[in-house]
Amino acid sequence: MKLWGGRFTKETNALVNEFNASITFDRRFYRQDIEGSIAHAAMLGRTGIITDEESRRIIDGLKGILADIESRKLVIGTEYEDIHTFVEANLIERIGDTGKKLHTGRSRNDQVALDMRLYTREQIKETDRELFELENVILTIMKANVDAFMPGFTHLQKAQPVTVAHHFGAYFEMFRRDRGRLSDIYKRMNYCPLGAGALAGTTYPLDREFTAKALGFTAPTANSMDSVSDRDYLIEYLDALALIMMHLSRFSEEICIWNSNEYQFIELDDAYSTGSSIMPQKKNPDIAELVRGKTGRVYGALMSLLTVMKGIPLAYDKDIQEDKEMSFDAMDTTDACIRLFTDMIRTMKFRYDRMEDSAKKGFTNATDAADYLVRKGIPFRDAHGIIGSLVLTCINRQCALDDLPLEEYKKACPAFDQDIYEAISLKTCVDKRLTPGAPGPGAMQQEIAASENYLKENPAMK
Ligand code: ARG
Repeated sequence: MKLWGGRFTKETNALVNEFNASITFDRRFYRQDIEGSIAHAAMLGRTGIITDEESRRIIDGLKGILADIESRKLVIGTEYEDIHTFVEANLIERIGDTGKKLHTGRSRNDQVALDMRLYTREQIKETDRELFELENVILTIMKANVDAFMPGFTHLQKAQPVTVAHHFGAYFEMFRRDRGRLSDIYKRMNYCPLGAGALAGTTYPLDREFTAKALGFTAPTANSMDSVSDRDYLIEYLDALALIMMHLSRFSEEICIWNSNEYQFIELDDAYSTGSSIMPQKKNPDIAELVRGKTGRVYGALMSLLTVMKGIPLAYDKDIQEDKEMSFDAMDTTDACIRLFTDMIRTMKFRYDRMEDSAKKGFTNATDAADYLVRKGIPFRDAHGIIGSLVLTCINRQCALDDLPLEEYKKACPAFDQDIYEAISLKTCVDKRLTPGAPGPGAMQQEIAASENYLKENPAMK
């Protein structure tokens, strides 16, 4: 079933019908399509383009269709070309010829541009809600772990001691920027394309301000050709999703490393890990691995849409129909990943003994030992060399700097004294790091307070 055919003398080839149709995937936004049509019909009535009575009958008919779809009384069949055809055909079936007036002053081009925007707008909010929840969980973990020492890494080699709070705080910042991007995109995209017609507006006295306001937009879009063919906002959103997935993927990689037999920094909850069909001992971090893996699909959607759009002459071309499936997949994938990742870290346990032990064993206090010498008047470059040689001594003796006898220290440099041990203890190393943004407890408490404040001032989008 289609909305055109008057100028054709032959039936459409069956494969062409199938190839051309979008109903299997655009039925997802039936609600947005109907909401848009209700606003359009109300505007047609107000402006006298159709009568008030006709407008009312159309709106009642549309509300009936919506209710019946939601209660599953009405099934969206695939014999229709697209969701717009389905709704219009049903309306005519319900209310008769008046239904044929709904599409006055409108094209499927501005209609689909509107539907996709309405749908994306809701999705942006949904993603923000998921990220808000994730940030709350991260903040809870930060608050509980200001004193939980762990090694900080560079090159995946133990570098300097940090805390669990500090490590998680880094991800808090990444997701905060992700939320900032979502709110920027929302502001930029919240303009209403309805009334742009096929490409050149219409000759009817449409009230575009009215429909824009009725649908919660800031204002109508400015140029009708741009309105029907712009998908920038969707590309921006997919880009934001790709970045979210990149952050989740890095975090997942860390979960996999921490969960490995060698590290054992964390233990995943049984409800959020899986087993092996052959190896009875296995408890695998499949959720983290899948999140890492699914990042590829979301990147793929971004690349696909960029590629679809790059060759489109103004205004609407059917290529644009390709904006949907991969975008929907990216939206569903990212939402599921954030949700599952949040629950996985909410329920996992830290092995504090293992993390602290690991921090102690990897010479993560070597920089602090050099800083100790600097405080005794030795230039940093010389101090670096002296501690380097002492690390070598420790490697040969298979001990930590903390366990090296004082005479060995004095042999390397007479400036060493008994207070070196206190100066390089794990606690001192962390406690002394008090520059803003550092893991020291004072600095960390400030970071936590600022993060808490940020969540209060930036609640989830409604
Ligand atoms: N299914 C189309 C899409 O998703 C709707 C717009 C169709 N417009 C047209 N002129 N064929 O883009």
